[in-house]
Amino acid sequence: MKLIQVEDYQDMGKKAAEIILDRVRNTENIVLGLATGGTPISTYENIVQDHQTNGTSYQHVTSFNLDEYIGVRPDHPNSYHTFMYKHLFHHINIPQEKIFLPNGMAEQQQECRDYEQRIREHGGIDLQVLGIGENGHIGFNEPGTAFDSTTHVVDLAESTRQANARFFESMEDVPKQAITMGIGSILRSKEILLLIAGEAKSKALAKLLDKQVDEQFPASALHHHANVTVIADKAALQTQMSTHH
Ligand code: PGA
Repeated sequence: MKLIQVEDYQDMGKKAAEIILDRVRNTENIVLGLATGGTPISTYENIVQDHQTNGTSYQHVTSFNLDEYIGVRPDHPNSYHTFMYKHLFHHINIPQEKIFLPNGMAEQQQECRDYEQRIREHGGIDLQVLGIGENGHIGFNEPGTAFDSTTHVVDLAESTRQANARFFESMEDVPKQAITMGIGSILRSKEILLLIAGEAKSKALAKLLDKQVDEQFPASALHHHANVTVIADKAALQTQMSTHH
């Protein structure tokens, strides 16, 4: 696991975009795994800006998103589908038919099997972008999820619902379930880029850097992967600094 330290959230976005753009420019028919949430927004802003200034093309890019809420229509303002179009897909030239997110309105078990199958049919994910939850979740794989799990339905942890409540009108509106790629699906990606910024994530980062592998801390599964880069800002790294200096 390689650690890149950056100053702040904006710098994290610049560094992450730099790595993603390098792979996009240099890989034929690249398959990206993408994430939603507050974490990747500055990364997407940099990607969009680059597209506008340098014209980097996404005609050859396929993307699979990590997760989607169940029972939320794709065109709902809070769906991850809407998030991705708003922050990225509307602003770059990725072909519509190469964009994949789990469908939270489909028959669930069938959708899980189909999603996993679609990823395989595209040759697997070349570069997976990940955030991390305060409880160590990756995608919506909450503590206790098997490391060999494939795309599946999850009941969201109460802490996760609370963390996401800021995007909804009230707590009752926050979905209780989601479809997520599994930890096994994530580990099959050829390369993984984990983004961590902000003080709220400092405990999770400290735990990850502790290198103990534990199913109760999903992100620790990444220690089983040979090509993981973590980009972390100072605020997230503060626990390390106060412990080691
Ligand atoms: P965040 O979520 O980027 O909104 O902090 C990350 C996650 O929970 O995986």
